[in-house]
Amino acid sequence: MTPLLRPMERRKSSSRPKKAKRAKKTNIATTALGAEPEKRTRDKSAPMAGESKPRDLNVHVKTAKKREYGSTLWLKRQLNDPYVRQAKAEGWRSRAAFKLLELDEKFKLLKPGARIVDLGCAPGGWLQVAAKTAGTKATIVGIDYLNVPAVAGADILEMDFLDEAAPERLKTMLGGKADLVLSDMAAPTTGHRSTDHLRIVALAEAALDFAEDVLAPGGSFVSKVFAGGAEGDLLKRLKQNFESVKHAKPKSSRSDSAEKYVVATGFRGNA
Ligand SMILES: C[S@@+](CC[C@H](N)C(=O)[O-])C[C@H]1O[C@@H](n2cnc3c(N)ncnc32)[C@H](O)[C@@H]1O
Repeated sequence: MTPLLRPMERRKSSSRPKKAKRAKKTNIATTALGAEPEKRTRDKSAPMAGESKPRDLNVHVKTAKKREYGSTLWLKRQLNDPYVRQAKAEGWRSRAAFKLLELDEKFKLLKPGARIVDLGCAPGGWLQVAAKTAGTKATIVGIDYLNVPAVAGADILEMDFLDEAAPERLKTMLGGKADLVLSDMAAPTTGHRSTDHLRIVALAEAALDFAEDVLAPGGSFVSKVFAGGAEGDLLKRLKQNFESVKHAKPKSSRSDSAEKYVVATGFRGNA
């Protein structure tokens, strides 16, 4: 089992973790490159570009000899996922884009001209949403140890956020205190539920360490967490340092996933 990284134990080298794979180039990434996504809603009865009629949503996937059963299930789920189809149709790089759109609709996080940091930003869906919503005067900085093709209006650092040099690099790129720190970071899953949960909490705690250092008073923090305990310390810290702390599970977050988001607003400042 991979040893857990305590949040304060930052990696000493700048090399990316051995298991990290480069982002696959998908059609979504290619079609969305630099393009401004269009309207969010579309007539669902209308055919998508290149289709003569709406595709059957229930796509069957044959198990190929060389494909593992788990991969077949993943592929089937992707092909039948309406958010994956909608993201592709609208030019978002990931279905995750809808999660930030929903969170922003509810909590009004992405303010025009804001300084925003996106931790774990590959393949770039949240960066696209932030750039579109916060506008051209915003400063948007993303980090991921995977390569992320350029997003108009955002600066991207290809680096492990747990590298001890990462926070200073991000602060330099930001050029001032942040209004919003977002973390959608997720380590590759092990399949062992409590291990995966602890790893997510460790990443969320590292993100909060950074947020407490970099946020301006009144700023906000959003982080992916998993339902299932062991986030007591995180919540305690959030409640001490922010005026409001809420959990949210966007509709676009898969219902069979334990994923949810913690949204903390009104940073009290670190004086
Ligand atoms: C769910 S994806 C983020 C999706 C993104 N919000 C979007 O809309 O496209 C989680 C990302 O966290 C990144 N990640 C996990 N641990 C990280 C770390 N220590 N440093 C940098 N990135 C990390 C992964 O590489 C992955 O790309």
